Amino acid sequence: MPLRIDILTLFPAMVQAVLSESIPRIAAEKGAVEYHLANFRDFAEGVHQSVDDRPYGGGAGMVLMCRPIYMALRDVTARDQRSPHLVLLTPAGRRFNQDVARELAAKERLLFLCGRYEGFDERIRQGFAWDEISIGDYVLSGGELAALSVVDAVVRLLPGVLNKEASAEIESFALGRHGRLLEYPQYTRPVEFEGMRVPDVLLSGHHGEIEKWRVAQAVQRTRERRPDLLPPGGAERPKEGKD
Ligand code: ADE
Repeated sequence: MPLRIDILTLFPAMVQAVLSESIPRIAAEKGAVEYHLANFRDFAEGVHQSVDDRPYGGGAGMVLMCRPIYMALRDVTARDQRSPHLVLLTPAGRRFNQDVARELAAKERLLFLCGRYEGFDERIRQGFAWDEISIGDYVLSGGELAALSVVDAVVRLLPGVLNKEASAEIESFALGRHGRLLEYPQYTRPVEFEGMRVPDVLLSGHHGEIEKWRVAQAVQRTRERRPDLLPPGGAERPKEGKD
């Protein structure tokens, strides 16, 4: 059965635009995932269908109200018998990374709530068992771009979405036994461009040598740019041709 992803947002068109292109679209076409968007403004009351109000105690900005979000969550949850893993996008959440993407890719249903304005009424947090996720230490204007980043990272991990060669595990952050490494440099035609040549080893046809070179490059790049990704004591240093 496809992974079901529900996304609650005030901007469904913005979310739909991203899901309709590239890998997120292919994942749905291949039957690995189903997207269901809902606008929680549809659950708001009154002529103005307000979803936000001024904060008690004062202060700048508006706060998302409980009612429309509680109503939307209950309604959307009941649209499938599987109970969703609830994801709340917020800079106050646990930091998203490839391990979290793998965790989410193993669920059978995910429901994302995208906030806007200055934040949520705290009782939205209290009423549900949220997995609160942040995509980084910066403030976006809403949860949509964060939810879409998470969805993109998750759906590319679903079985059958990428072909074997492009399989997510060979790309950045996943060189298997070599641990978490950044991607090695890649080249395509032509062999020479404005004086810059493709390294000879890649033209040699020696698969063993090519693999060794790539791992060495990945380790070097990781050591230079993201030493925090390497295990304490550093990555196993690939043999560098001295024996
Ligand atoms: N909403 C606003 N900023 C965010 C962030 N950095 N991560 C997740 N959700 C957010």
